Amino acid sequence: MRFAWSTLVSIIAWMLLTGRLVIECKESCFYVILTYCNWTDDRPRFVVNMTFSNQTGIGSITTINEEIASPVSRILIVQRSGKEKSRTIYNASTRLCDLQNVFNSVPLFKPAKDSVLKQSNYTMSCPLTKGTYAMNNMRINPKNPLLSLLYQPKHYFMVKGGLYEELPRGRMRPLSTYFMRGKVIKRSCGANE
Ligand SMILES: *[C@@H]1O[C@H](CO)[C@@H](O)[C@H](O)[C@H]1NC(C)=O
Ligand SMILES: *[C@@H]1O[C@H](CO)[C@@H](O)[C@H](O)[C@H]1NC(C)=O
Ligand SMILES: *[C@@H]1O[C@H](CO)[C@@H](O)[C@H](O)[C@H]1NC(C)=O
Ligand SMILES: *[C@@H]1O[C@H](CO)[C@@H](O)[C@H](O)[C@H]1NC(C)=O
Ligand SMILES: *[C@@H]1O[C@H](CO)[C@@H](O)[C@H](O)[C@H]1NC(C)=O
Repeated sequence: MRFAWSTLVSIIAWMLLTGRLVIECKESCFYVILTYCNWTDDRPRFVVNMTFSNQTGIGSITTINEEIASPVSRILIVQRSGKEKSRTIYNASTRLCDLQNVFNSVPLFKPAKDSVLKQSNYTMSCPLTKGTYAMNNMRINPKNPLLSLLYQPKHYFMVKGGLYEELPRGRMRPLSTYFMRGKVIKRSCGANE
C-alpha cells in the first residue's frame, strides 16, 4: 500500500514537473473583464475623462488647471465571491512622489507601473504641475503574474482608488476617484490578444 501511494505521488509530481504544469503555465493567459466602472473629478480644477473597455483597456485624459502641492494616491483592491467574506488584496495610501519607490520595491507591481508610464505621459512627481496628461489603452499584460494571483473562479474583484490632495490637519480632498468591478478570466494565450 505504502509503495503504491508513493509511486502514485511520484508519478503525479513527475507529470506536474515535466508535462502538465509546464504546458499550463505556457498556455494560460489572464484577461480582465470589467463589469462596472465609474469615476469622479474635481472640475474645473482637475478635469478627468476616463474610458473603460474590455477590448482596448482603460484610457484617461486629465487636465490639471491648478498646481497640486501634495497629491496622495489611494488604492484598495478587494476580492470576493457570492457568499464569502471579502478579502483585501491591497490597501494603500501613498504620496504620489513616493509611488515609484513603492512600485519598484514590489516585484509584482513593477511591470504594471512600467507599462503605465510607457503608455502615458503621466508623472509621479510632487507638486503636480498644470497640464494635460493622457493615457491610452492601458491593459495589463495577460502574462502578468498579478493577474494569475487575482484569478479565482466565481470570484470578482473591486478596485477603488483615487487621487487626493492633502490639506492641513491631515484632511484629504478628492481630485479624482475611480471604481471598477470585474473579474479575471483564464483563457489560452492568443485567443483574445
Ligand atoms: C461608483 O460605484 C460605487 C459602487 O457601486 C459607488 O459606491 C459609488 O458611489 C459610485 N460613484 C459614483 C460617482 O457614481
Ligand atoms: C469623455 O470622452 C468621451 C470620448 O471621447 C466623450 O464621448 C465623453 O463625452 C467625454 N465625457 C466627459 C464627461 O467629458
Ligand atoms: C465587458 O464585458 C462584460 C461581459 O461580456 C459586459 O457585461 C461589460 O459591460 C463589458 N464592460 C465594458 C467596460 O465594456
Ligand atoms: C484601508 O485602509 C484604510 C486606512 O488605513 C482603512 O481606514 C480602511 O478601513 C481599509 N479598508 C479595508 C477594506 O481594508
Ligand atoms: C501628454 O500627451 C497629450 C496627448 O498626446 C498632449 O496633449 C499633452 O500636451 C502631453 N502633456 C505633457 C505634459 O507632455
